[in-house]
Amino acid sequence: MATVTFDKATRIYPGSEKPAVDQLEIETEDGEFLVLVGPSGCGKSTSLRMLAGLEDVNGGSIRIGNRDVTHLPPKDRDIAMVFQNYALYPHMSVADNMGFALKIAGVNKSEIRKKVEEAAKILDLSDYLDRKPKALSGGQRQRVAMGRAIVREPQVFLMDEPLSNLDAKLRVSTRTQIASLQRRLGITTVYVTHDQVEAMTMGDRVAVLKDGLLQQVDSPRNMYDRPANLFVAGFIGSPAMNLVEVPITDGGVKFGNSVVPVSREALSAAADKGDTTVTVGVRPEHFDVVEHGAGDTKTLSKDAPAGLAVSVNVVEELGADGYVYGSAQVGGEHKDLVVRVGGRAVPDKGSELHVVPRSGEIHVFSTSTGERLSG
Ligand SMILES: Nc1ncnc2c1ncn2[C@@H]1O[C@H](COP(=O)(O)OP(=O)(O)O)[C@@H](O)[C@H]1O
Ligand SMILES: [Mg+2]
Repeated sequence: MATVTFDKATRIYPGSEKPAVDQLEIETEDGEFLVLVGPSGCGKSTSLRMLAGLEDVNGGSIRIGNRDVTHLPPKDRDIAMVFQNYALYPHMSVADNMGFALKIAGVNKSEIRKKVEEAAKILDLSDYLDRKPKALSGGQRQRVAMGRAIVREPQVFLMDEPLSNLDAKLRVSTRTQIASLQRRLGITTVYVTHDQVEAMTMGDRVAVLKDGLLQQVDSPRNMYDRPANLFVAGFIGSPAMNLVEVPITDGGVKFGNSVVPVSREALSAAADKGDTTVTVGVRPEHFDVVEHGAGDTKTLSKDAPAGLAVSVNVVEELGADGYVYGSAQVGGEHKDLVVRVGGRAVPDKGSELHVVPRSGEIHVFSTSTGERLSG
């Protein structure tokens, strides 16, 4: 086992000015499951391939444990990689596929057999060792690819979208299997996905990348509760956080017909930048639906109901709860909003809801820089 350190690691592809990965700085703990996540083209695979030794590093360095591996060939890094397409040898049996790397390394036959059988047991593949990959289901092939990595007992596992070839249902069950297997084996793992749900459910910590730049590294909980900027706020969570630009008023922000209190620090940080608005983020589950005129929120006009009037366009009923997709006038603009409501309290399509963000549950971001202002 070992730690993995990206120390300002940079990759600039030949013929390109802009780095595909720009001064990436992450340090994993020993045995940690770290997930790199971000939209397509943000530099996830490039980061992983630098760690694997499959891509040159043009600046900074990469360490595994306290070994600087920046310029070592892949075979000397003590890593095992699981690729998206599994890259199984079609003419070899499952057992031979799993043991191939050990055979190349000159490990004796009985030792290979022992390791392959152990891995097959863990992965529920014992009955398939003599089959060829084409006679396996997608999920079984995926497990063979995992097995090939496991038998090598590497210091670090690298996985690049290993679930993307599976159908949706299998993807969900396999992600749980991989996460629990990793915890059992305790091998430091760097895992790449574009799927934020996968990232949040699997990772001890999650690193969000955008345009080759690291946005935030944090536990899933902190990432959800305290996104560092507007990008992370909009990327993590489904349905996404509502983000609306609102005017700053005395002691808070103007949200429809209500003033929502905002910390003095956040307001003065915005004022320091010369901003007259902030961008407020509210997760769908953090709105309270208020009755007309009711609620203890400070109302700007006595005649109008509190909060923000949302006209209901679509209601998604999920049983336990429901999502209301509606639109509202905020800061002189038409905004689409998503509000979570109780499953037995869904409003009718075409009706109007009045919502107020729950106090203490709003996120405040600088409209000009996108950075988080609230604590
Ligand atoms: N071999 C390559 N040569 C030139 N540019 C590349 C190469 N591989 C990737 N890129 C570019 O680098 C950026 C990051 O790519 P990649 O790491 O594959 O992103 P991700 O895995 O997050 O989708 C993209 O803009 C991509 O077009
Ligand atoms: Mg990729």
